[in-house]
Amino acid sequence: MEKNKLKKLYKDKIEEFNHNNFLYYEKSEPKLSDTSFDNLKKEILDLEKKYKFLKSKDSPSNSIGYKPSKNFKKVSHKVPMLSLSNAFTEEDLFNFEKRIINYLDKEKSFEIEYSAEPKIDGISASLTYKNGKFITGLSRGDGKEGEDITENLKTVIDIPHVIKSKNFPVEIDIRGEIFIQNSDFKKLKGKFANPRNAASGSLRQKDPNETKKIPLKFIAYTFGYEKDLKISTQNSFLAKLKEWGFKTNPLNKLVKKVEELMINYHEIEKKRDELDFDIDGIVYKVNDFKLQKRLGNVANAPRWAIAHKFSANSGVSIIENIEIQIGRTGALTPVAKIKPVNIGGVVVSNATLHNEEEIIRKDIRINDTVIIERAGDVIPHVISVDLKKRKKDTKKFKFPINCPSCGSKTVKDFNLTTKKEDAVRRCSSEGYNCDKVVIEKLKHFVSKEAFNIEGFGKKIVENFWNLNLIKLPQDIFNLNYKKIEDLDGWGKQSVVNLRYSIDSKKTISFEKFIYALGIRHIGLENAKLISKNLKTLKNFLLLPEKDNFRELLNIDGIGETQINSIKNFFKNRTNIQVLAELEKILNVKDAKIKKIDGSFNNKTFMLTGKLEGISRAEAKSLIEENSGSIISNVSKRLDYLIIGEKPTKRKIEAAKDLKIKILNQKEWSSMLKKTR
Ligand code: IVH
Repeated sequence: MEKNKLKKLYKDKIEEFNHNNFLYYEKSEPKLSDTSFDNLKKEILDLEKKYKFLKSKDSPSNSIGYKPSKNFKKVSHKVPMLSLSNAFTEEDLFNFEKRIINYLDKEKSFEIEYSAEPKIDGISASLTYKNGKFITGLSRGDGKEGEDITENLKTVIDIPHVIKSKNFPVEIDIRGEIFIQNSDFKKLKGKFANPRNAASGSLRQKDPNETKKIPLKFIAYTFGYEKDLKISTQNSFLAKLKEWGFKTNPLNKLVKKVEELMINYHEIEKKRDELDFDIDGIVYKVNDFKLQKRLGNVANAPRWAIAHKFSANSGVSIIENIEIQIGRTGALTPVAKIKPVNIGGVVVSNATLHNEEEIIRKDIRINDTVIIERAGDVIPHVISVDLKKRKKDTKKFKFPINCPSCGSKTVKDFNLTTKKEDAVRRCSSEGYNCDKVVIEKLKHFVSKEAFNIEGFGKKIVENFWNLNLIKLPQDIFNLNYKKIEDLDGWGKQSVVNLRYSIDSKKTISFEKFIYALGIRHIGLENAKLISKNLKTLKNFLLLPEKDNFRELLNIDGIGETQINSIKNFFKNRTNIQVLAELEKILNVKDAKIKKIDGSFNNKTFMLTGKLEGISRAEAKSLIEENSGSIISNVSKRLDYLIIGEKPTKRKIEAAKDLKIKILNQKEWSSMLKKTR
């Protein structure tokens, strides 16, 4: 068949599929039988396989069918919508400021000016304006992609449709919070659990006329993508927002020094009850945009901002039992099962007791009356025991010496960094010997940040494990689908979907693969570092040979603790078998090397001594931004040694011996400028 005809056939089939998908999931009125529906999907996938030029974003290969198709189109944010890290105490604020000062390499006495903004507990939205016109409005979504809720947002009175000010940028995403005032919420009489739900629910109505019925508000506080924004501080930006016709929070304030932040925090906390909108803390942002830019982000939160949460809610309850949970790394975590208590609108029935030491320190016993605290999204915990209410016959809690799941000895590790014994007791079994550990490992393996197998949640892992369908990670890729189809709650279509989502994850990046193995001390960040350094799965598998582990010491950020843990991992026979099986099944993609033209490309650097006006962390990210990398040993692999004040002489000599280029700070800076 000729190309154009094939394209048309492909397109028609997708259209037909999506229409039926809609009828099936959204309308619950299927017109096709399950088999015809499955066949149609298969036909599309087969076409794609056979003819590589057939691609469509609407193809079922891009979506998982069993999820109800969304009411709203997904659209990428030009600039991601980040989240904020949290602070709860004054100490957290001091640390936040210290981190900034260190990163910028400023004197301790350097005063940072902050924009302190009450944090409204609503739903964030990003509004794109082009030439002064409101074009698209997106919800936050996962921060990278949001839902197109433009029509609903247009019904919000606080959102201007046209902005005529001369100084309004040619293009800008205005970001802020959609919320409902408490007084308006009361009028809704029990339709929603709280004001936040009410705002979220009405924003996501299919019909904008429904949204219109609920008086939503919008307060603006930041921007995403911008073209032509000539503003250099957050507070002047907030002033401009007002000038342009947006509402801003009247309680926003410029504040310096942690002590002043605390005063402002307490003042606003006192006013909290009088406000007509819910706030759950204060956001502090470094006011100067230049400094913000230098500080950049860590993971998905900016270094230059933090949310100072209001003190947690607490409640009184009774401990009915203490259970020991076993985590993926064998950690034994005691959990208090408490008499359900409502704390700030959430019913709490579990509270973590952290570890054995915590139980001893607070002498927590079954039947004790305790104060429970719940702060933000953190798991509730026990603050204190009310000893006056302790019954006479209670006994001290005995922490198990053996693993309650497999009976192995439990151990407390010696922490190389703190030079102390860990507070956490662990099951000493290695690999896949302890049932509870295995189940947790499997949950981790399929989890979002690892293989991200959609529709394979924690409950399914437990269920499949109990039914002997999965015992080791490789079993996930060799499931007995026939058997699953006969299980309660499963049908033909859901099995097809599961199979599809598993098969589509057989190709995986090297870093995610390492992370998925669940090696202790190798979280996402470390997995990324290792993948960047080793580049291929083959190199990873070769680690135990000739003690290649030492190579890992070159990676800035990887130390003895991580290396010992990887060594332990490779010592276990089951782990080796799992690796061998997975290697057969999967396509683990080599780590990509970022290609940016410039002299840092693939060059390695090492720093010795102190650089002026810039911290090590900032220097490192500058090098990495230009696709260079940092290593921590002088070896033949090193291209440049950068020397600052008081360098280590030994390193300079070693570099000279190996004829490695030595740069002073000025030379390095000019090299950096050339690449920019
Ligand atoms: S700034 C990187 N400013 O808090 C900047 N956020 O946890 C992130 N929020 O999703 C946003 N008031 O929904 C910023 N004055 C304010 C805010 C604010 C409330 C919410 C927003 C965001 C979340 C971050």
